[in-house]
Amino acid sequence: MGKELFNPGEKDALDRVDGRQKVTGAAKYSAEYQLPNLAYGVLVSSSIAKGTIKSIDTKAAERAPGVVGVISHVNSIKVPGFADNEHPTEPPTGGRPLRAFYDNRVYFNGQPVAIVVADTLERAQYGASLVKVAYVKEQHTTDFNANTGKAVLPAQAKKNPKSSLNDYDRGQPDGYKTAPVKIEAEYHHPSEMHNPMELQSITAVWEADDKLTVYDKVQGTKPTQRAFATEWKIPVENVKVISKFVGGAFGNGLHNWPHETAAIIAAKQLKRPVKVAITREQMFTMVGYRPQTHQKIGIGATPDGKLVGITHESVGQTSTYEEFTESVLQQTRMMYTSPNLSTRYRLLPLDVSTPIWMRGPGEATGAFALESAMDELAHVLNIDPIEFRLKNYTEKDPDNNLPWSTKYLKECYQMGAERIGWNKRRMQPGTLKEGDWLVGYGMGVGTFGAHRGGATVRAKLHADGRLVMQCAVTDIGPGTGTAMVQIASTTLGIEPSQIVFELGHSDYPMFGNQGGSSTVNSVGSAVQAACNSLKQKLKDLASAKNASLTTADPKNISIKNGQLTITDNSLNVALADFFKQNNLQEMEVTEESKPGQEANKYSKYSFSVHFAEVHVHPKTGQVRVKKVVTGADAGTIISWKTAANQMIGGVTGGIGMALQEDAFMDHRFGRYVTKDFAEYHVPVHADVPHIDVFFVDKPDYIVDPIGTKGLGEIAIIGVAPAIANAIFNATGKRIRELPITADKLI
Ligand code: MOS
Repeated sequence: MGKELFNPGEKDALDRVDGRQKVTGAAKYSAEYQLPNLAYGVLVSSSIAKGTIKSIDTKAAERAPGVVGVISHVNSIKVPGFADNEHPTEPPTGGRPLRAFYDNRVYFNGQPVAIVVADTLERAQYGASLVKVAYVKEQHTTDFNANTGKAVLPAQAKKNPKSSLNDYDRGQPDGYKTAPVKIEAEYHHPSEMHNPMELQSITAVWEADDKLTVYDKVQGTKPTQRAFATEWKIPVENVKVISKFVGGAFGNGLHNWPHETAAIIAAKQLKRPVKVAITREQMFTMVGYRPQTHQKIGIGATPDGKLVGITHESVGQTSTYEEFTESVLQQTRMMYTSPNLSTRYRLLPLDVSTPIWMRGPGEATGAFALESAMDELAHVLNIDPIEFRLKNYTEKDPDNNLPWSTKYLKECYQMGAERIGWNKRRMQPGTLKEGDWLVGYGMGVGTFGAHRGGATVRAKLHADGRLVMQCAVTDIGPGTGTAMVQIASTTLGIEPSQIVFELGHSDYPMFGNQGGSSTVNSVGSAVQAACNSLKQKLKDLASAKNASLTTADPKNISIKNGQLTITDNSLNVALADFFKQNNLQEMEVTEESKPGQEANKYSKYSFSVHFAEVHVHPKTGQVRVKKVVTGADAGTIISWKTAANQMIGGVTGGIGMALQEDAFMDHRFGRYVTKDFAEYHVPVHADVPHIDVFFVDKPDYIVDPIGTKGLGEIAIIGVAPAIANAIFNATGKRIRELPITADKLI
């Protein structure tokens, strides 16, 4: 069962195909394109949370050395799409994304209100410091906790009665109340910022009056291309989006933001390329975040541990101008057998910037409450938390009564429990010690839909045996190129060193966003389709010349060391000679791959289980995560090293969520106090123990033909509750408000 994760270099897994480029600095990120006549833009942001701009004094900035322009709502060219009522960009948000420099309204503290463009970055920064903005202030509301009672059903749910955001009941509404054993608890986590290492940046160039090129940090080149074409009312093919390398994103590149439009406006108005890289402080207000959320759970069971009912309610924050929703409650509906189940989702619009998907969006939030509550009830029932989950294990999806495409969650429990040493865990909290330290074990489950979208890949086979593929997909860090090279190599036999996967350009064949753990499922399937199409073409050519090959199975075609072979018919010829015989320079195919109807008969999810061992000092409240075991049922694992990297990264994010991350706002000003890494804490090496990764590695051919299910999100979903549960097991203290800082434990 399962496959041991090798030590890097021990087995045959690929190193990252672009690893050398990344560590040597050869990889070019969107702020690193040096174009002729390039100018630098620096954004001036609002210092009030709500109101209007009375006046902007830009005279000193305009006179400052090197400044070539100062643009605000006063003098900005009009973006044609801004006047439309329709939504100019892509989901996930409803409402209207902020329009840069459109009018004098201020919606949140930190909103871009002007851009100063100069011939150097430093001169633009100096110029920006000279801009003086006068406001008419209005009373703002930014305090989430003081206003949760005012939360409303999202407009997206009101508009669509079928939306899963609507109130939901299975069995008896609030049926948990009838259970012999029940608990009710409230959980909270603050807003969390993605804060990837790379700052959001864009370099915008108008090649002609209606032709735009952007080097932009995004998660989808095609969706961004469509968004800007709509915004500027120019043909889609006139917009080029180049995003070759992305230094982490975690979701904040799934939406287009005002700094991008600001750069595009400036480039058009000043008739020269403009680069904007926002500051770390601006990363807290301009590019989305995981919205703070307040959840209530009522959960009840029989004394022997059969769930009777769960009611799960969630209130999240959004902005006043745009409505961001996420599926906080979905996993509660499908994870356990509960005859009675109710969910209610609400949003509280505040005078803040718009949140956006952040790794494990919705589910990471919901799992904190659900998996904590499961642990709390198991404790009350005096049942082992794994046993409690097994007693309520579902063999089909209780939300829609469909069979699972595959589900190996039991295997995950078993493998993980063994690896963490679950038998050392004491049922009675606070009873296991190591020296002065209290020791505890906890676990949490994660799940995320195994999504797949349409994708198209072009593949060109050269006479010397090299294969070059192209797709518009981006790689925000998981190692997409590496996985695609692996799939092509497995399918065709070509050595990985002879395969190149080109990505991150909107001119390449179609793919949408790298998001929702769907890239390998979608693009990987298209890579396989393109490689299979090459095999078919090779076979057709071979059998045209040699009738005995007519019955050959294209499956048995392989290209190795430049030799083309058909194993069952013993064709063995140098590919170069074969191409020459057929008057070919190269062979090119373009294949689209998309999910079929059959998949709709199943419920498709990836699953993960995370186990944590924590040590807590009873006097100081210090928490040390000593060991984490993390495992996934994510279908076939294509690329073992990068897949393990994903899990390690997700767990690290989960440790931050559990113990450190806290976007703290001063509500007098509606402004974040935490605006850099000194104040906003994320895990450093010393905070992260050895993370032991395992995969079940069993294929799911219902999700896609390569058997994968996706793992980017499940890597973090369920980690925070695993740590919170371990802290309870160590101390007997149940902390329901993240992050679990030392002060909450003493
Ligand atoms: Mo992910 S939140 O879909 O980048």
